[in-house]
Amino acid sequence: MSDDKKQLWGGRFTAPPDETFAEFNDSFRFDQRLFAADVTASIAHANGLQRAGIISSEEGNSIVDGLKALLNEASENADHFATAKAEDVHSFIEAKLIEKIGDTGRKVHTGRSRNDQVATAFRLWCRDEIDAVIELIRRVERSLLDLATRHQDAVIPAYTHLQRAQPVLFAHWCLAYFEMLERDVERFGQARERTNVMPLGSGAVAGTGFPIDREAVAQELGFDGLSKNSLDGVSDRDFAVDICSAASLLMVHLSRLAEDMILYASTEFGFITLSDAVSSGSSLMPQKKNPDALELLRGKTGRVFGNALALLTMIKGLPLAYNKDMQEDKEAVFDTIDTIGISLRAAAVILNNTSLNAEAARNAAATGYLNATDLADYLVAKGMPFRIAHETVGKAVLFAIEKGCELNELELGGLSQFSELIEEDVYERLSLASSLAARSAVGGTSPERVREALAAARSKLEK
Ligand code: ARG
Repeated sequence: MSDDKKQLWGGRFTAPPDETFAEFNDSFRFDQRLFAADVTASIAHANGLQRAGIISSEEGNSIVDGLKALLNEASENADHFATAKAEDVHSFIEAKLIEKIGDTGRKVHTGRSRNDQVATAFRLWCRDEIDAVIELIRRVERSLLDLATRHQDAVIPAYTHLQRAQPVLFAHWCLAYFEMLERDVERFGQARERTNVMPLGSGAVAGTGFPIDREAVAQELGFDGLSKNSLDGVSDRDFAVDICSAASLLMVHLSRLAEDMILYASTEFGFITLSDAVSSGSSLMPQKKNPDALELLRGKTGRVFGNALALLTMIKGLPLAYNKDMQEDKEAVFDTIDTIGISLRAAAVILNNTSLNAEAARNAAATGYLNATDLADYLVAKGMPFRIAHETVGKAVLFAIEKGCELNELELGGLSQFSELIEEDVYERLSLASSLAARSAVGGTSPERVREALAAARSKLEK
């Protein structure tokens, strides 16, 4: 057995692990992603041991220098350790340290367990990834605002039940997704707060047996606080669930965006065009230009939900405190972070390669009786109770359908047979421009409100 692979717990055993068991048990092939985080935490731990006088300053310096050298080797060549053999990243690092500095390396694990060690390294890794995810969400937000700005005055139909409902500014549609992503930023921020708590010092389960100043170690690692109970410290994976559930909602939003855009890019809608750079063709049908990128955005949502559910199921029913089941936390979070990372990068690129076919969208917004509510509101403004106005306009719509025209294409005589309150000024009220302008309450689609919302969104991003 190579030295890399020597177990941390060999003393009590007289026989080596079965090969299949080892393959089943080992996590190094995936948890090596925690390498830098675990070395960083080990450096802070060694400093803590030294400050407490548990190891001498020579020993402390030797351990810290050895660990830093390992970090350098890994940063110079990302694949440096990729094929090494080890049970997990923690035993790997300890073995490498001993190889590098000799017996002093055997002191690094004083006063800690892999149980508090893995929780600490995992939280450090997650914290940095959350920051990266928030940056990527911002990138998509910026792309949405740019798309809205490229088509400032454009109008599209808004849908309910996927039936044309009322006209809205295209920018208003863009800003709806901006709002969703803002909540995602907030949710990841909250997940970060719960992630950025240091379990190191919890030991295996009962707390460390050495007088290490946990506050100082936490400060060195940039943690905002300490876990307050050792049983909870080593077994809390709520932060991983927080991350995976924030990721699930993020993917819900990207998936809904994708679905809207897939529909809008279809010949039937024809509202948007995706550039060639983000479209694919068919191997058989020469005419096809497919929105594969958007479909993948929608399709990758399922695995992110799956990861969240896998984590919840893994934790449910676990007796306190650490159980090996918990080793399953990493792949769920790694896959989630990888999936949302590429999805966000793709979403930004897709939006940057999207253009609105303003005329087609406007025509769709101007036909199909999307101004029926405006006619009802017009009657209400002239004193008619809304319920009666609704009924009246319903009849007018039926009449227009029979005539094969829009409400605003009916002659005044045709319209006023439904109510004598309808006068010449009705045509102005039925125009697309008045329909938009009328929705001027906060959150509405009037050009003025949307201009403000766009500016507010911009300044939020610039902060
Ligand atoms: N590789 C383990 C994990 O990811 C950490 C080691 C703790 N193992 C143990 N037998 N106490 O959870």
